Amino acid sequence: MAYKVTPWEVSGDIDYGKIVKDFGLETISDHLLKRIEKHTKELHPLLRRGVFFAHRDLNWILDEYEKGHHFFLYTGRGPSGHTHLGHILPWVLTQWLQEKFGAELWFQMTDDEKFLFKDGLELDQTRKLAYENALDVIALGFDEKKTKIFLDTEYAKTLYPQALRVAKRLTFSTAKATFGFSNESNVGEIFFTSVQAVPAFLPSVLKGKNTPCLIPHAVDQDPHFRVARDILPKLGYYKPASIQSVFLPGLRGGKMSASEEGSAIYTTDSPETAKRKIMNAFTGGMDTVKEQKEKGANYSICPVYHYYRQLFMPDDKELASLERECKGGSILCGECKNRLSERVSHFLSDHQKKREQAKHRIEKFMIRD
Ligand code: TYM
Repeated sequence: MAYKVTPWEVSGDIDYGKIVKDFGLETISDHLLKRIEKHTKELHPLLRRGVFFAHRDLNWILDEYEKGHHFFLYTGRGPSGHTHLGHILPWVLTQWLQEKFGAELWFQMTDDEKFLFKDGLELDQTRKLAYENALDVIALGFDEKKTKIFLDTEYAKTLYPQALRVAKRLTFSTAKATFGFSNESNVGEIFFTSVQAVPAFLPSVLKGKNTPCLIPHAVDQDPHFRVARDILPKLGYYKPASIQSVFLPGLRGGKMSASEEGSAIYTTDSPETAKRKIMNAFTGGMDTVKEQKEKGANYSICPVYHYYRQLFMPDDKELASLERECKGGSILCGECKNRLSERVSHFLSDHQKKREQAKHRIEKFMIRD
């Protein structure tokens, strides 16, 4: 079955190898991982395990870094609801990169985007959600001296003139080919990618010095930066580099979706709710206990396994042992889900404490005009 991956729609069977080819990405080689490790002394599990599997110009970012020309990080969130565990995946790596490379982070909250693209969401709601989502970002441990978070509608005086420079060089035909717009799309949607391009060069504008930019994100956001990479050099700025992850799958199998109850765990879920969602998850298990004990299960298609692999089991030996147990049929899905829900509950209660504390520090992170 064909797949579709755009910033607003992910559907079909996602074949990451095909995405690399279709999008024109580079895979992250062992050589590149070694280059990163030279500077960071260790590799984050998300890198070691290939959860971040593709990039654009990461070698160039390291070339510049080695010449003493430091990069800044840029990532973001479209505030259409509470944060789920998939959203935090790129932020976890971003926080690690900030710590290891001492990089500044520009974090964009696209409250305008979600207002434009989602029926029934008003601007005051997306704005409020942006502040909720910002608590999750802060709770992950970003450095308040090096992190700037902004809402598009609250930083518009700075962003808008730069967005105009991008928009003037972007035709409707390119936007249509890249994102699949139609005559029924509203004109705000067509303009919007110009706004998401801005933080990739805004620090260069503000500092009056061209500065390399590295954008961690899941692969759905790549179309925005393909456009930005075409246009920014025309404005005299570097093409932004990126490092791109696979998706954390939905617990019901397939993709995570806000409209499918139980497919995603939110950072605001109670441990009981998270446990219920995990216990109801689709797995790679067999139909009967007998069959599973005999034949083992298939972890590669199991969302429960991917939760361990991507976020909740950083120890490689432990993960390898879980894989053996699963394949050999010595662990059953109920037990495996139980163990995961303990880890997730532990994460959630700690994260929710930090989220509460973040309420007192949020103004240290926010920038506005
Ligand atoms: P949004 O809010 O859809 O997603 C926020 C970030 O989470 C990633 N993501 C996922 N990662 C792993 N597994 C998943 N299931 C999953 N679902 C979403 C997204 O790729 C993204 O990195 N327009 C953007 C906001 C934005 C942005 C940016 C994102 C503005 N500037 C720069 C990345 C980089 C959006 O709506 O993201």
